[in-house]
Amino acid sequence: MLKLSKLAAALALTLAAGAASAGEVEVLHWWTSGGEAKSVGELKKIMQAKGHTWKDFAVAGGGGDNAMTVLKSRVVAGNPPAAAQIKGPAIQEWANEGVLANLDPVAKAEQWDSLLPKVVADVMKYKGNYVAAPVNVHRVNWMWANAAVLKKAGVAAAPKTWDEFFVAAEKVKKAGLIPVAHGGQNWQDFTTFEDVVLGVGGPKFYQDALVRLDPKALNSATMTKVLETFRKIKSYTDPASPGRDWNLATAMVIQEKAAFQFMGDWAKGEFTAAGKVPGKDYICAAAPGTGNAYTFNVDSFAMFKLKDATAQKAQGDLAAAIMGPEFQEVFNLNKGSIPVRLNMKMDKFDDCAKLSSKDFVDTAKTGGLVPSAAHGMAISPAAEGAIKDAVSQFWNNDKISVADGVKNIAKAAATK
Ligand code: BGC
Repeated sequence: MLKLSKLAAALALTLAAGAASAGEVEVLHWWTSGGEAKSVGELKKIMQAKGHTWKDFAVAGGGGDNAMTVLKSRVVAGNPPAAAQIKGPAIQEWANEGVLANLDPVAKAEQWDSLLPKVVADVMKYKGNYVAAPVNVHRVNWMWANAAVLKKAGVAAAPKTWDEFFVAAEKVKKAGLIPVAHGGQNWQDFTTFEDVVLGVGGPKFYQDALVRLDPKALNSATMTKVLETFRKIKSYTDPASPGRDWNLATAMVIQEKAAFQFMGDWAKGEFTAAGKVPGKDYICAAAPGTGNAYTFNVDSFAMFKLKDATAQKAQGDLAAAIMGPEFQEVFNLNKGSIPVRLNMKMDKFDDCAKLSSKDFVDTAKTGGLVPSAAHGMAISPAAEGAIKDAVSQFWNNDKISVADGVKNIAKAAATK
């Protein structure tokens, strides 16, 4: 009897200790589409298996602008979430405010420096300390195509240049289908725009125009060509495009209503969730003219300084889980991206992911690897927002001449 009660007491102690080390993590993200929700669900499962309580803080809106607005108001109110999806140069801005937690203890214990490409590790660090945990690598310069629609329209292969693209788009139109499924929101307009900058101008021009924001490149004849091409793409979209969410545009391709979509490989998450097979039901190809280049977009989570020790422990566990091989595989299989952790086995991934992985490595050697401006990787959030608006105004208003469009974008790029 005595023995039993001793055992019970020991058990109670252990449970109490367990409970004390388990905390709640409130995680802000904008992953609300079918494929995205499945992916983030995997992170939730891993955290729950560690005994933590997952408090979902999802703010709908592709590209994350809404989520960032909500985040700002929570932080200003002195009530930040434990973790938030923050990426690229915005990580530095948040860290500079002094609100982010130092993740070095986890990063050192888990040896992140040796598990990450340096270009990614640098973005995750502020003054040499890790303040964010990277999740994946998304490639933005993809073109998605429905195989059956191409066949119906007599398009033999995915177009490799913009000239080939317009020939294909014309065929699709003649077949009575929508050539380009476009979601008319400013960040989606900008996503297509950066594909055109890269495809028409090449990686060096892309770097000059959208990373270095060089006025010479922004006002060049190449930029004129970019805007002409961009406007021509619009003529192949349907009139119901304004305001449409990106995943609904993907659904148009999945459902054989449209031939193409220009979108990062989170779109593949939608194809995967719908049970579609690459190479059979749909085709993934680099956007025209961008086969030798790769616009990268790395999702990451930054952790906010919290006082409570159990909450801090939960943050550490979340950071470790994000970089762990289990999460890196299962999350990215669903999300459409590839693991950011080096030396992961790719055997469970499809051909699109394998191509992305190969091109990521190859383009890093040739200078074709460039940060996505439309997805917060290249420039300050202020400049990004201003360019995005100018690009979107041009896209939406055919009365703005190409010459004025060029001027407006160059002016926006000067925003500090
Ligand atoms: C994010 C992706 C997300 C997409 C659509 C991108 O900026 O990096 O993770 O799926 O926006 O919301």
